[in-house]
Amino acid sequence: MTIATFIRGHGPKHDMALTDFDLVLFGGSGDLAMRKLLPALYALNRDKGFPATARIYCVGRHDWTQEEYLKEVNDNAKPHIVPEMLSATSWDTFCARVTYVSLNASDAATYKALAEAMRSDPALTRVYYLATPPSLFATICHNLAEAGLATPNSRVVLEKPLGRDLESARQINAEVGRVFSESQIFRIDHYLGKEAVQNLLALRFGNVLFEPLWRREWISDVQITIAEEIGVGNRMGYYETSGALRDMLQNHLLQLLCIVAMEPPVSVTADAVRNEKLKVLRSLRRFTPATLVQNVVRGQYRSGHVDGVPVPSYRNEPDGNPQSRTETFVAVKAEIDTWRWAGVPFYLRTGKRMADQLAEIVVRFKSLPHSIFAQPVGSFQPNSLVIRLQPDEGLHLNLMAKTPGDGMRLKPVDLELDFRETFKKPRMEAYERLLMDVLRGQLTLFMRSDELEAAWEWVEPILTFWEQEESEPIPYTSGSWGPAAASALIGRDGLQWREESLPEV
Ligand code: BG6
Repeated sequence: MTIATFIRGHGPKHDMALTDFDLVLFGGSGDLAMRKLLPALYALNRDKGFPATARIYCVGRHDWTQEEYLKEVNDNAKPHIVPEMLSATSWDTFCARVTYVSLNASDAATYKALAEAMRSDPALTRVYYLATPPSLFATICHNLAEAGLATPNSRVVLEKPLGRDLESARQINAEVGRVFSESQIFRIDHYLGKEAVQNLLALRFGNVLFEPLWRREWISDVQITIAEEIGVGNRMGYYETSGALRDMLQNHLLQLLCIVAMEPPVSVTADAVRNEKLKVLRSLRRFTPATLVQNVVRGQYRSGHVDGVPVPSYRNEPDGNPQSRTETFVAVKAEIDTWRWAGVPFYLRTGKRMADQLAEIVVRFKSLPHSIFAQPVGSFQPNSLVIRLQPDEGLHLNLMAKTPGDGMRLKPVDLELDFRETFKKPRMEAYERLLMDVLRGQLTLFMRSDELEAAWEWVEPILTFWEQEESEPIPYTSGSWGPAAASALIGRDGLQWREESLPEV
């Protein structure tokens, strides 16, 4: 059953014209720049029309000429653009905006070249995108200030990881805060730029239907899953210092939890939304060593098959450490101590080399209190609302309906809203939307310093416990749904992860 056909029209247009800008991309030859940022800038330039004189300066350590850098972009960024979006003219127009500047981020003297390349008009919007390791954030900001490049019209974008614990996150906030004010700092979490996350806001606060039910009286539990089929790939160096808890849970999963759990903000202005998210983070029940053992599961993938293809264990990946204790999977039962959510468990999990590539939020409602039909009350599947972030973006509302024919037999049916099908509009990638917000100066979808610290504060006891503990992550087979302990974690509450409760097809 689909309700897509009932929903048409795209509403008013909110596109605001962009003012002229100079955007400087630190880490301009890195993996993120090539895979995500340059393709996103290309798409925005093509579809949103950057101001005629807007410039993009790509900064890197290599001593490349402009031509050599553009060849890199051609070889490594272009393949990440969908072919239908590519045309020789728009590619050339984009490349004409790009200037390569060779610079050593730690060496203040080399910023002279950047200052000379950039336009000197102080009224111009300047965006400094730091797609570099966080250890360089403070140095870069300091050097920008030294070189007179940190003007009041400047913005700085910080890529994750934003620290590796509370202490380092505080340090980053303090150091960057010496140069830029909070309203100039854009801490990116690309999950907040995903279409379905924005649609969750629309669903909750653009309809009256769910809000009265969105509380402990009617909701039994919430599951948030981000499962990936990919392994660690060529990012072993980074991943060994991170693990799933720092890489996914501290940021993406907690941000999704905030959007599900926050109180209605008074508007969608940055501080209105961020104040509400902060309250959620501060209401998360802190773990103690005793509650941790019960409520947190960590795993590490062993060899197996993903989509029928044999894959090695995490420890045997390129540059892998045969003794590594880094977790590639984590599942947590979180609790929010507020009137709205007391007693409603939020189960969060994420892992690499899982059975499927998906990200979804499942809001499960309470069971029917009583059956007036011949069927026992236990045969009624509780209603659930599934918000799919990927691979397909949409909503599924699970209801009980009568099966056709004689008698009164009820069975679960799925009311489905497929966003692609409904809004036949080209999608904006998360990075496109977020870059556009940076250029427009809109901070709503970016984390504030206190939010970042509150998220670290909550995960810190887990990190400390794991560091002190002798035990290792539980092994799980690649291509599975993670360690059995994750099923046990939710099973203790008489529940199952969604994929375990779905009928076989
Ligand atoms: C990144 C993590 O932030 O998110 C990666 O560092 C992860 O490890 C990625 O693969 C997942 O993002 P997406 O948008 O592909 O689900």
